[in-house]
Amino acid sequence: MRKIYLGLLGFGNVGAGVIKILKSRGSLLRNKIGCDLVLKRICDKNLVSKRDVAVPRELLTTDANQILNDPNIDIVIELIGGIHPAKEFIEEALRKGKYVVTANKALLAEEGKEIFDLVKRHEKSIYFEASVGAGIPIIKALKEGLSADRFRRIFGILNGTTNFILSEMSERRVDFSQALAQAKRYGFAERDARLDIGGIDSLHKLIVLVYLCFGRLVSLNEVFVDGIQRISLLDVGYAEELGYEIKLLSVAERQADELELRVHPTLIPQEHLLAKVRGINNAIYVSTDLAGDLLFFGPGAGRAAAASAVVSDLQEAALDLQAGLFRRRFFATEDKTIKGLRPIDKSRSRYYIRFMVVDKPGVLAAIAGVLAKFDISIASVTQKERKRAKVVPIVMVVHEVRERDLRLAMKRIGTLKVIKEPPVTIRIEQI
Ligand code: HSE
Repeated sequence: MRKIYLGLLGFGNVGAGVIKILKSRGSLLRNKIGCDLVLKRICDKNLVSKRDVAVPRELLTTDANQILNDPNIDIVIELIGGIHPAKEFIEEALRKGKYVVTANKALLAEEGKEIFDLVKRHEKSIYFEASVGAGIPIIKALKEGLSADRFRRIFGILNGTTNFILSEMSERRVDFSQALAQAKRYGFAERDARLDIGGIDSLHKLIVLVYLCFGRLVSLNEVFVDGIQRISLLDVGYAEELGYEIKLLSVAERQADELELRVHPTLIPQEHLLAKVRGINNAIYVSTDLAGDLLFFGPGAGRAAAASAVVSDLQEAALDLQAGLFRRRFFATEDKTIKGLRPIDKSRSRYYIRFMVVDKPGVLAAIAGVLAKFDISIASVTQKERKRAKVVPIVMVVHEVRERDLRLAMKRIGTLKVIKEPPVTIRIEQI
């Protein structure tokens, strides 16, 4: 039986998970693929840390060239993460004629153009199922399952860590930093957890999905992004009283001939399915003209789930390799009906707003006065009595307003002497 040789770059959590699957499901994969997947070399700069999977010593190296320069290695698996040196390693692998499997959403989102150009030039392929939604087969669904569809919108929860944090805050009333520490202990968070909580990891994933759906590789700075770092237990509690859950939502939506892209915390009605997505789960809604409205749901982080996606890519790469195929199908076709990106300033939404104010006469009138100047209409106001507190929260829900007007109004209100913290504003999504 033919052997296909693999080189693994990055022996971390997911890398160890991949090795476990290759060891334990070898015969299952052999039956499906018709060849043996043989792990020939594993590279990591740290070979000292203990792993819970045993590998022969001679497979291990700290020198990536032992994989990149080995003519017998057919497929390189990149699980280092981040931009450098992952980018250089992938580029070198492609130049050397290897197929590449990666989970690296940051690299695809930030340097995708160069990588995809290189793939085309060398007529090889890159597979990235694990880059979004871990084990949820969303990438294959978009590139194969919905080949002829025109996408209306794709939106959902793309980051497990922030969803875990928000769920912990809501279910167990633990504060933000405790919930984050717990997510780190479980190993869901990025090495730099600011990528999760600042919304950047979600943004990376949204960019990958948008590329597949609309054929545009947008830059990070073209997308409005806001994270969950300013969400407090107070907001979680008020949102629930108002009938909502707070979720970090990523949205790509066609608006006439423009595409609106945004990542931000959102109040979602408690009865909506997205509000019920808890813990590290992800949920991705896809709406197309042919297949209709689809929902993909499941764990969005974690070793076994991510490793499952990597191994599914290994199967695809091995099949392509045996057939000698240069697969074009992952190159998204540009949707020419979309003329450009819609500026966030034009986007409209209802909003939840929390002000922290000095408890004295005239405060509410001052805030309402500024809102009126910007033509922002208040739907509800809550201020609870707090004994002996000098600073108290006022929570408002406002009717639909243009993002730009809301921002200007908040800037103006922020300058009032009675306002003690920058106002917290959270969209209320109409879904
Ligand atoms: N930090 C990421 C998340 C890992 O929490 O979703 C999976 O991409």
